Amino acid sequence: MRSVMRIGIAVLVCVIFIRTQGPSPKVQAVDDGLGLTPPMGWYPWNEFGQEPQNERLIKEIVEALVSSGLREAGYSFVGPDEGICFTRDGSGRLTTNLERYPGGLRGLGDYIHKMGLKYALYTDAGTRTCSKAMPGTKDHEFEDMRQFAEWRCDYVKIDWCNTEGLDIVKAYTKLHEAQHAAGRPIVHSLCSWGEGAPWTWAAAVGHLWRTTGDICGPGRADWGNAMKIAFTNEKLWEWAGPGHWNDPDMLIVGMTGLSEAQNRSFFSLWCLMASPLMAGNDLRKMSKSTIQILTNLEAIGLNQDPLGIQGHIIRKNDTVSLWGGKRLYDGSQAVLVFNQRSSPAVVRIAWSDIGIEETAGLYVRNLWTHETSGPHTKGISVTVRPDDVALLRISGTDAFPLPPIIVADSYLVSLRAAGPAAQTLSGAITIRNRGSAELPLWKVREGLPDWLSVTVAKNGKSQTLTNTISTAGLKKGLYHAIVRADNREPVSGRPMSSLYYDVDLEVLNDVGGIFPGIFF
Ligand code: GLA
Repeated sequence: MRSVMRIGIAVLVCVIFIRTQGPSPKVQAVDDGLGLTPPMGWYPWNEFGQEPQNERLIKEIVEALVSSGLREAGYSFVGPDEGICFTRDGSGRLTTNLERYPGGLRGLGDYIHKMGLKYALYTDAGTRTCSKAMPGTKDHEFEDMRQFAEWRCDYVKIDWCNTEGLDIVKAYTKLHEAQHAAGRPIVHSLCSWGEGAPWTWAAAVGHLWRTTGDICGPGRADWGNAMKIAFTNEKLWEWAGPGHWNDPDMLIVGMTGLSEAQNRSFFSLWCLMASPLMAGNDLRKMSKSTIQILTNLEAIGLNQDPLGIQGHIIRKNDTVSLWGGKRLYDGSQAVLVFNQRSSPAVVRIAWSDIGIEETAGLYVRNLWTHETSGPHTKGISVTVRPDDVALLRISGTDAFPLPPIIVADSYLVSLRAAGPAAQTLSGAITIRNRGSAELPLWKVREGLPDWLSVTVAKNGKSQTLTNTISTAGLKKGLYHAIVRADNREPVSGRPMSSLYYDVDLEVLNDVGGIFPGIFF
């Protein structure tokens, strides 16, 4: 008996050792297909802080996201941060703060989905959120996550304020279980600012975790602090990968306090580190240069690379650093030279620095000037201005394909059927790919309700998912389904983030007929 116990304890110690010492546990407890490339979107905190957040602001930002071209570049998650969105009523249920969000939090979600974007919300694992303006989820985890699902949330940031006495692993694990029980696929963003070393365990219960404190106070970028964060986050590179990302906080590109070179460098570092790209600036007032930086598809292509490798520093002196270690899906690799001195730096990158034979003839693509040179043997030299970067992609061929970047015209199909006779109705959504290759057809998962069928058709790089419903035999009422479709990136064969969208059906009268109805 004793020896069995001894073996048991040894196995347990071993398991704990593997889980806490080894890099990147690479486990995703649920096969949800979410966040297989770093999430992209917009969050209000960096620019606005708490007070200005309300429905009107979020809707104006959504319009700007679409009209500025950010949606076309892949930014999709958007919504309030700690924006005093809800209170808890006497029965313990979260209810919308209608003064700030008069259309309700579900209404805001529907609006965001109709605009071809995904809905992000914020909460806290403790008793109250950081400013104490909103209730936290402690002791209400399951009902709160059900409420978030009812609001049709797709991404939830869970802060770590007012959590005295809570065990961080247990608390976030419970929230993960609660989310899973609520039945809606939601990207889970942990926000403990590095407390509890989430990179060592959180891949099993979430998709991304903050690695550091806040990047700035609302309204003004802090370059020095942002660089400290970048250099801390860089060291954690081994823990990141598809579905589990280090999060060095939201972007400060385009905020007051940064030069154009700093905006470019910041964005390049976040792209190379496979960091989530949640823009944090006022999208309603962007300069041309800010838009160009935030929508540079060649830089975003590094960030959204299907291999999901976080780049890191491979050589450094006091002021100049060479970043690499980021192999890309087509066999090329990304390299970044960052100059933090006050005069230009001339930097030699030898092929041996990046693990390649000196004799190889390689092509070099500059991802900011969009020019290709080569073939070069042995290496190349670059000149980098103060606070600026050279962001390069290095390849054996002069083709530099872009990985898939998925954009939808809508994530909500709403249908309404009136009258007692059976009807067939349909509504389509179109999914585009801004990457280079055509994708295979999206594969719709089985398990749709009987009243719904989905077909997929290709038209070049666009695909249309047509949702056909039959009302035969349905009772008066509201019906809802979440459709999941899966795909693979054709060059690497890697699974892509699953596509999820909502289908709503309102049936105004009991309908005759026997199910299944006639679909086509
Ligand atoms: C924490 C987070 C921030 C923001 C604020 C809201 O500080 O790190 O990103 O969500 O809370 O109070």
